[in-house]
Amino acid sequence: KIIILDFGSQYTQLIARRVREINVYCEIHPFNNCPEMDETVKGVILSGSPYSVRDDDAPKPDLTAIKGKMPLLGVCYGAQYLSQFYGGEVQPSKTREYGRANLHYVDTTSELLTNVSDHSQVWMSHGDTIVNLPEGYKIIASTKDVKVAAYKVESEQTYGMQFHPEVYHSTEGTQILKNFVVGVCGCTQDWTPDSFVETTVQELKDKLGNDKVVLGLSGGVDSTVAGVLLHKAIGKNLTCIFVDNGLLRKNEFEAVLDSYKHMGLNVIGVDAKKEFLSELDGVSDPETKRKIIGRVFIEVFDAEAHKIQDVKWLAQGTIYPDVIESVSVNGPSATIKSHHNVGGLPEEMNLKVVEPLNLLFKDEVRRVGRAMGIDENLLGRHPFPGPGLAIRILGDITAEKVALLQEVDHIFIQGLKDNNLYDQVWQAGAMLLPVQSVGVMGDERTYEKVVALRAVTSTDGMTADWVHLPYDFLAKVSNDIINKVKGVNRVVYDISSKPPATIEWE
Ligand code: XMP
Repeated sequence: KIIILDFGSQYTQLIARRVREINVYCEIHPFNNCPEMDETVKGVILSGSPYSVRDDDAPKPDLTAIKGKMPLLGVCYGAQYLSQFYGGEVQPSKTREYGRANLHYVDTTSELLTNVSDHSQVWMSHGDTIVNLPEGYKIIASTKDVKVAAYKVESEQTYGMQFHPEVYHSTEGTQILKNFVVGVCGCTQDWTPDSFVETTVQELKDKLGNDKVVLGLSGGVDSTVAGVLLHKAIGKNLTCIFVDNGLLRKNEFEAVLDSYKHMGLNVIGVDAKKEFLSELDGVSDPETKRKIIGRVFIEVFDAEAHKIQDVKWLAQGTIYPDVIESVSVNGPSATIKSHHNVGGLPEEMNLKVVEPLNLLFKDEVRRVGRAMGIDENLLGRHPFPGPGLAIRILGDITAEKVALLQEVDHIFIQGLKDNNLYDQVWQAGAMLLPVQSVGVMGDERTYEKVVALRAVTSTDGMTADWVHLPYDFLAKVSNDIINKVKGVNRVVYDISSKPPATIEWE
């Protein structure tokens, strides 16, 4: 495997994803909590950082167990660190070095740059530049403005790179990373979805033996893939619980429950619509809604799980980005994000936790799902928030409002699917606004509800942009909604990006 030492760059996870796309397994660790370099570690990559190596409080890891002893690649800050602290010099850049640049010197005899073309486009993003390299360091690539775009330490397998090979705009970045992890480090490209399934199923068998496990299914990709993996490993010892909170999409509960049963999962569908709606009665505040839904979910799930004899484990669909210790820019303390969907469950239930997907990125979860033959309809689904339509009904929630919004959402989502737009959108949905507006239908004046449609592109939900859906499509959907859904006389389309807006309206 490859170890990526994280200095807090926004691109660190991207390095890991690129390396894994080459089918080489890698892990991210904070620079101040470096794992032991045993024989399974074939090489190390140092990430970029929001710090400058000239800052007093800049990360300064001890690399004695690594540098000169195994392949090492410094990216951006990593490259500057390997210069500055080994006798070179780093200075603030005189010209702006952000964005697109082209290499104009490439030493293709260097193993790192094999098969990289002369004028390869690379992506720069740094405020410092290496002005002097330590002795024994040799330049292997330059751009017009950046003389030291890449270097090698002559007597070591140590490399540095000022640009970011991991970003999309470094067009041959993947080739360079492949040259490093396969060529220099000698990793075999055997981290594939199939091999993941095979090893994980075996590990789960060893870990769980004949124990009983309970898993909450949500209809989302992560819990579904976790369920199928566990089912492969322990079969009927896995019980899945799928709760209908009454806030799902139209017909969703029945349809998803049906596909789970078709996949052979031992799944209990719990109709808890009434509990959720009555607890939410009269509540308008978004955070209070979320808390109530979280609490009722735990109560319903817990009651159901207690009906199963001798359960020892709670399985969760936690994925890698939720467990990576991220280096905080505000100090070296490491923070771990908790899984926001099921926070609170393990503590209350007194069960051991098993998380079969906690090494995977989202796109890998999909690929693993595909390798196990899970239906594309389930794997390609848009994300849907745990609190469901409750946070898309602004203001208080009633059964009538839920039913109305389900109809609107259904017309919109089905429209996207029918027009081959669904897969181009990362997430889409409809919001019911707490306003009424005047309209006219036939000869009648109406005074009815407004719905907002939202469709965004994103990679992880952290940032998002609104989708430029075709006007004709929007016109058709708007018309259908107003004609078919009683109580709605106006449709608006949300054209805000995140930030400053968020994806959901609450
Ligand atoms: P925002 O609205 O924060 O949403 O831009 C980002 C992503 O998170 C989803 N979301 C939630 N998911 N529980 C969830 O499980 C929640 O309380 C919640 N709030 C937002 C949202 O749908 C989007 O994908």
